Amino acid sequence: MSYVLHLECRECRKTYPIEPLAACQDCWAPLEVVYDYGRLWSDLRREDIAGRPATMWRYRELLPLTTEPLIGRQTGFTPLVRTHRLGQALGARELYVKNDGVNHPTLSFKDRVVAVALGKAREFGFDTVGCSSTGNLANAVAAQAAAGGFKAFIFIPADLETEKIIGTQVYGAKLVRVNGNYDQVNRLCAEVAEKYPWGIVNVNLRSFYAEGSKTVGYEVAEQLGWRLPRNIIVPMAGGALITKIHKAFEELRNLGWVPSAPVRFFGAQATGCCPITTAAKQGTTEIQPQKPNTIAKSLAIGNPADGYSAARVILSSGGAGEDVTDEEIVQGIRLLAETEGIFTETAGGVTVAVARKLIQQGYIRPEEPTVLVITGNGLKTLDAARGRLDEGAVIRPKLADFEEQCLELASVTT
Ligand SMILES: Cc1ncc(COP(=O)(O)O)c(C=O)c1O
Ligand SMILES: [Zn+2]
Repeated sequence: MSYVLHLECRECRKTYPIEPLAACQDCWAPLEVVYDYGRLWSDLRREDIAGRPATMWRYRELLPLTTEPLIGRQTGFTPLVRTHRLGQALGARELYVKNDGVNHPTLSFKDRVVAVALGKAREFGFDTVGCSSTGNLANAVAAQAAAGGFKAFIFIPADLETEKIIGTQVYGAKLVRVNGNYDQVNRLCAEVAEKYPWGIVNVNLRSFYAEGSKTVGYEVAEQLGWRLPRNIIVPMAGGALITKIHKAFEELRNLGWVPSAPVRFFGAQATGCCPITTAAKQGTTEIQPQKPNTIAKSLAIGNPADGYSAARVILSSGGAGEDVTDEEIVQGIRLLAETEGIFTETAGGVTVAVARKLIQQGYIRPEEPTVLVITGNGLKTLDAARGRLDEGAVIRPKLADFEEQCLELASVTT
């Protein structure tokens, strides 16, 4: 059963029927999916959710599909890990990592948004789908399009990481490598969406696609025992994820499924591309576009589509925006790996490094329950770690070599 009512403009509140529309036709602001919360409230209990399979579809009534989900059926319900050793290193006593680096099938949170977008593409009758991407979305669309039997056109900046390029091509998608940054790629993709009758997940399917990110918020709340954290730190590119986790928490409060304690939202970006955190630091929601230059390529969106909403969520929640250098990003990746055994990509390095800064600066106090949203897998950005780790000597297969060259280095005593 579907609880979807219509689309509504986030700014002027004009409503539209459920159709593949890129933005409000009057003011070009993003469109929100509106649900019949009254009916949801009377029909659904959080206890109903508990017995369902451990995937994002356990919250299907809060997602915009009107038919049975057939694409990305195994996606979501990734681990929420209580991170004692990382907490100790950062000086936080109740710290959690939501690890979407192990999402199914392509190891990032984008699997969630694509599962919703392609389900909707099927409902609208599209046989071809596509996206503009900073990498992870490319992987997710290519994989799930293959599994769903769609043709796919994927537009990316030509200089993305090799792992993300191969991790798109392998699924047989048509990869369009564009000489330009993401914002230029995205403009081209919008033109393509205007001209061809295709479902472009982050253009004409954007309002549905973005709803998939809400499931990160539902899962965090359920995995905390149906309560909300005091703080949540979220990496931002276009700004949709943080905005949708905020929407998810609001919905859960309104449904009475969690106590209505306030949550502070902290947005994380790389210093080499930080239009949203710059605005937040200045206390404004006005975004000044930037030209990205950072190793965190998955977050390198200089003109973020949901930047205004993301800044508003941060400021109105009493949170903050913070950014970190490429060097700090690598330190963040290593810290999470060395303390918790979780290898994240550059975006996760941003989140961990920003968490460290926020705790040091006193924005986040040690006793407050705090969640770090880790959105992607380190095996997709190997260059960030390559050459920066202790690679050790290559030795002959001799015990003497081992004892001389390896034991001493690791300062092991016999
Ligand atoms: C790994 C990762 N984390 C976070 C984000 C940010 O998502 P959003 O564009 O919704 O802000 C992206 C976006 O591509 C991403 O790939
Ligand atoms: Zn409008």
